[in-house]
Amino acid sequence: MSFPKDFIWGVSAASYQIEGAAHEEGRGLSVWDMFCRKPGAVWNGHSGDVACDHYHRYKEDVSLMKSLGVKAYRLSIAWPRILPTGTGTVNTKGLDFYDKLINELLSAGITPYVTLFHWDYPYELYCQGGWLNRCSPDWFTEYTQVVVDKLSDRVQHWMTLNEPQCFIGLGLYEGRHAPGDKLGVSEILRAAHHVLLAHGKSVQVIRARAKTPSQVGYAPVGVTKMPATDSPADVEAARQAMFSIKDDGVTWNNTWWMDPIFLGHYPEDGLQFYGKQVPTIRPGDLETIHQPLDFFGVNIYQGVFVRAGQAGQPEIAPFPVGAEQTAYDWAITPSALYWGPRFFHERYKLPIVVTENGLSSTDWVSLDGHVHDPQRIDFLSRYLLELQRAIQDGVDVRGYFQWSIMDNFEWGDGYRERFGLVFVDYQTQKRTPKDSAYWYRDLIAANGNGLLKKGPG
Ligand code: GCO
Repeated sequence: MSFPKDFIWGVSAASYQIEGAAHEEGRGLSVWDMFCRKPGAVWNGHSGDVACDHYHRYKEDVSLMKSLGVKAYRLSIAWPRILPTGTGTVNTKGLDFYDKLINELLSAGITPYVTLFHWDYPYELYCQGGWLNRCSPDWFTEYTQVVVDKLSDRVQHWMTLNEPQCFIGLGLYEGRHAPGDKLGVSEILRAAHHVLLAHGKSVQVIRARAKTPSQVGYAPVGVTKMPATDSPADVEAARQAMFSIKDDGVTWNNTWWMDPIFLGHYPEDGLQFYGKQVPTIRPGDLETIHQPLDFFGVNIYQGVFVRAGQAGQPEIAPFPVGAEQTAYDWAITPSALYWGPRFFHERYKLPIVVTENGLSSTDWVSLDGHVHDPQRIDFLSRYLLELQRAIQDGVDVRGYFQWSIMDNFEWGDGYRERFGLVFVDYQTQKRTPKDSAYWYRDLIAANGNGLLKKGPG
């Protein structure tokens, strides 16, 4: 059985992870430029200074995507490339880069899906408090307007933010990502509130100023829980665990980041859980945050299994000894791409777009000059079989964006991890499509029909 007609087969990447040219043509500093300079912050002292040099090689990269028959490309725009100090003066060279990139994609028959913010926050604004500052939603609105005015005559698919659970949780709470702060819960929740306001105001700008009809969404982490068995009790326990705020850590949950946006209120259990640490919510804030969206974008890589305890309460079912993992030590749980879309679709009632899914594997160029990555082919086959099953069971899934089109800068782990369909030799910048790239090309051409083998081989 194939996927729905017009299913969107895409690939994803992000500005800081692939562009390079970090100090060229007027780009301002981001918190990641500064974080990478901190000794020990990033594996082996790596940075996005050069990355995949996509800024100069975008034509070659778009041509690669075209050769794979990719229907859509999820890119992010570097805020500091557009507004070097975050607000005020526009860097026209930065705008010109994205103008040319969008034109290249459209000429190649590839639909651009634009993420406005994928973590490269302007350092100048961070120095003014960043997301802690109540002005931050207005800063993001100003940036959105510049981009929408320039590109919305051709760009019709927008995501405001990528994974606030990470850029707030890892960047401001755990300190493992830029800017590397370790703030208290009250501050984190205040920053989170401003992030949600920024999202809402950004959507309002897109709706008001886009020059063509626009589909707008957002790309949070989908913190996925799967039932240990298909028993109704375990399914209900997993659903409860997916949408509750208890012991998932301050930001590693779904509803604090999704309910205000899609339902118009913070989750009651979260308000109880955080108590006095909940930030001031001004009249009108939730109305601003709760803007109608066209799709539920979500990044899903893995999940944990949940069973019903004695009294039906959710219990984490531990992974068995020797459970398979990727090179990044992430669990391999294909059913996350069944239950995640199903549970999110049930709760938020919007078409689902899987905006990221993929794996890191230990890839290299073999003696025969090819990059053989059977594990990626098997991993993607298993996950896509589950996504197909969700569609068969009535979940309205519109698209799938594989992370990533090419190996790239994996944040705190630098270039150690390889997530790409295309291998990048960072010494020469030579791109080598992996076996999985050709497999994905054939899958797209067949719209998923018959190519998904059950299991390896
Ligand atoms: C994320 C980010 C990507 C990562 C990818 C692999 O989901 O963390 O959106 O930038 O590189 O997910 O970790």
